[in-house]
Amino acid sequence: MKINGTPYRSVWVDEKDGWSIHIFDQTRLPFALDILTLVTPEEVAHAICTMQVRGAPLIGAVAAYGLALALRSSANDTTLEQTAAMLAATRPTAINLRWAIERMLTRLRPLAPAERAAAAYAEAGLICDEDAAQNEAIGRHGLELLRALAAGGRRVNILTHCNAGWIATVDWGTALAPIYMAHDEGLDVHVWVDETRPRNQGAALTAWELGSHGVPHTVIADNAGGHLMQHGQVDIVIVGTDRVTRSGDVANKIGTYLKALAARDNDVPFWVALPSTTIDWTVSDGIREIPIEERAASEVTHVGGRDDAGNIVRVQITPDGSRAANPAFDVTPARLVTGLITEKGCCPATQAGLLSLFPEFGQKEQGI
Ligand code: MRU
Repeated sequence: MKINGTPYRSVWVDEKDGWSIHIFDQTRLPFALDILTLVTPEEVAHAICTMQVRGAPLIGAVAAYGLALALRSSANDTTLEQTAAMLAATRPTAINLRWAIERMLTRLRPLAPAERAAAAYAEAGLICDEDAAQNEAIGRHGLELLRALAAGGRRVNILTHCNAGWIATVDWGTALAPIYMAHDEGLDVHVWVDETRPRNQGAALTAWELGSHGVPHTVIADNAGGHLMQHGQVDIVIVGTDRVTRSGDVANKIGTYLKALAARDNDVPFWVALPSTTIDWTVSDGIREIPIEERAASEVTHVGGRDDAGNIVRVQITPDGSRAANPAFDVTPARLVTGLITEKGCCPATQAGLLSLFPEFGQKEQGI
């Protein structure tokens, strides 16, 4: 996607040295567009833990490059396995992280150490290219839903939660890809952007992305969505996801479940956009089986922003001594999900629906 007319991806290899990688520091957006250079796997792990990079597909892609960076200096089996374990431990909920690391290990383990670094860069590059292509395909399939809602030139009001845009992926985004395409072809789309406490990925990142692309949008407090739905001001909800079980349960940023409940109560379609790399075929019951990341209480007790003098600051909003809890994700049961938008098309949020699009993950391989 473009920033001020220049096309960017969310992670890229330095053109000059050919090996260090660059990311945007997402903790500084929307107030500063800082590009970071990462040169060690430890720096990659730190960037993921501190959410300088975030979003399920993107942390997978960046972790893949983390392995490549490690293998430049030492490519023996111990380095490979220890770096993979370190990177996999950074965040627990998004399955794309584990998926990307497993894919890298499968490619690299059989190789001689001397061949590994080059192969790792090539494989990480493929992961990035495939993610961008999958998200573009998600955009095309989701666009069909928006075209139907826009029939007769109607305005389409879309509600989204968190940030499932291009900076949460390598390019395009998942939930936002159909919205960009709809806007580009002239449909009258408007996006309700949930601020997404505690880290405000909606207010900071989704609003920045949509604004940069010229998409009309309005940031709302997290609790406003139900009210807007009751008053007919939301035509469709589209969110991304960090992990979908084979039976269609959806883990996404905390608060997604409440939006799905409100959507069901108000007959608003609730769609989830995902590349197939976000499906965890090994689990079925999302509430019981998906690990939910518990992040620092300080993310709840403090908020970041820009003060009137233009400084990026962090302020405390709770009394000294109040405890805070910070589960970062929740699980929306499949029964509340209208459907899934994948790179292969749309399907019901069921095992049969997913297998109709991805028969290669059928009963034999997965023991379903
Ligand atoms: O904690 P984050 O900001 O990494 O959470 C991100 C989300 O919940 C996104 O909705 C999800 O990763 C989908 S990204 C295309």
